[in-house]
Amino acid sequence: MALLDIKLYGSPVLRKNCKPVTKVTPDLVALAKDMLDTMYDGGGCGLAGPQIGKAIRLVVIDTTRPDEGETPEPHIMFNPEWGVEPDSTDVPYDEGCLSIPDIFCNVVRPGKVWTKFTDENGQEVVLHNCEGILARCIQHECDHLEGKLFVDVISTADRTMNQSRLRDMAKKAKKGE
Ligand code: NI
Repeated sequence: MALLDIKLYGSPVLRKNCKPVTKVTPDLVALAKDMLDTMYDGGGCGLAGPQIGKAIRLVVIDTTRPDEGETPEPHIMFNPEWGVEPDSTDVPYDEGCLSIPDIFCNVVRPGKVWTKFTDENGQEVVLHNCEGILARCIQHECDHLEGKLFVDVISTADRTMNQSRLRDMAKKAKKGE
């Protein structure tokens, strides 16, 4: 188990359009497992490559709560894609991000999605009718691969309320680069 350094809001890597993974290698699977450890340690339910400084299309997700005794159900997702299911409706949810600690804001997103990705064995996996936290996580993590963050789409009121904290975070990240 290894804990990786999480890049914080303001780090340039979080704004990169990430590169596709052409081959699932043992090194990348080991990295994904370290990402899962880092995610569990931070109490998050998803983590994307750029958040640990790697601008590659790799996402890990686990929406169970191992800290509350639930059996972990980790997903390692290379080159994930997603789309909205036909009977989906938009839902609000207070989102957070391990790269933007202690800020939680409402974001409206589709409530039911499908996702397609390559797993740790190099197999293509398609999941349909993902709902709840899983649907939310898939969209949030895939946004990371495009250099998008949830604070980009929050309301003006939420933006105003969190502006100085975001600015401080960005300043600190710049110093650390
Ligand atoms: Ni995030």
